[in-house]
Amino acid sequence: MVEVKNISKTFRLGKKQMALDGAKSKFRTAVRNVSFNAFPGEIYGLLGPNGAGKTTTLRCISTLIKPDEGEIIVEGINAGTDSREVRKRLCLLTNDLKTDPNFTADYLFRFFGRLHGMAQSDISARREILFDAFGIKEFANVKTSDMSSGMKQKLSIAISLVHDPRVVIFDEPTNGLDIITARSVTDYLKELRDNGRTVIISTHIMTVAEKLCDRLGLIMEGRIAAEGTPGGILEMTGAKDLDDAFFDIYRKSKEVPDEE
Ligand SMILES: Nc1ncnc2c1ncn2[C@@H]1O[C@H](COP(=O)(O)OP(=O)(O)OP(=O)(O)O)[C@@H](O)[C@H]1O
Ligand SMILES: [Mg+2]
Repeated sequence: MVEVKNISKTFRLGKKQMALDGAKSKFRTAVRNVSFNAFPGEIYGLLGPNGAGKTTTLRCISTLIKPDEGEIIVEGINAGTDSREVRKRLCLLTNDLKTDPNFTADYLFRFFGRLHGMAQSDISARREILFDAFGIKEFANVKTSDMSSGMKQKLSIAISLVHDPRVVIFDEPTNGLDIITARSVTDYLKELRDNGRTVIISTHIMTVAEKLCDRLGLIMEGRIAAEGTPGGILEMTGAKDLDDAFFDIYRKSKEVPDEE
């Protein structure tokens, strides 16, 4: 389970970044007082437009950055004070895979297994399951420099899951993937959910939110503007589809005055 309690995060912009973005302020608040719980056996989706604060929230949960305020509890452990223990229990998947071009799928998988302190036999058992699930066996001995982006994506997912984490966090799971690869990823996320894992994803794609997520937090300008099941959000707004519901909530969120 993941408990996010009133987290906020403000970045300080460098001069170069301010000039690039045409920003007037040195500070940019990415996440404002965000709270939500994600439970085992569900896929929780953060749905929001570009710059809404999705990635920042996921990076806070994964202990890559610290929120300025608030608290995050992962599987009962405080991410702020015990980040090492939290990292053992979760994985963060993103689309920007950085692997050394000279290593094969097999080598990298075993290498990351050892980094997690796993025994060879456990690594082999996980390899069997994950290479099967993502069709990696066919290219187990191919170097990453010779892999397509879809192959690399599959491999990076398998590597992230080597330690069988209880909590799986995926930033934009289907971005840049063809329909077949995307389906193998979403199918596997459902399988993880059905096996009692806590899955949290971010997306700006309505169909992903609707088809994959059990519950959604609509995040806009750093705030959770609405939360519920996809069906519940439709009911809440009286909209005919999630697109319309999203715009309805977006319009209303614009009416909330800024405290800054
Ligand atoms: N390291 C950083 N330094 C400065 N500003 C940042 C940093 N990371 C994010 N931001 C800013 O915080 C806001 C939220 O960014 P974030 O990446 O969390 O959004 P997102 O919802 O993931 O967007 P996208 O859909 O484009 O991925 C944006 O205005 C972004 O420019
Ligand atoms: Mg993002």
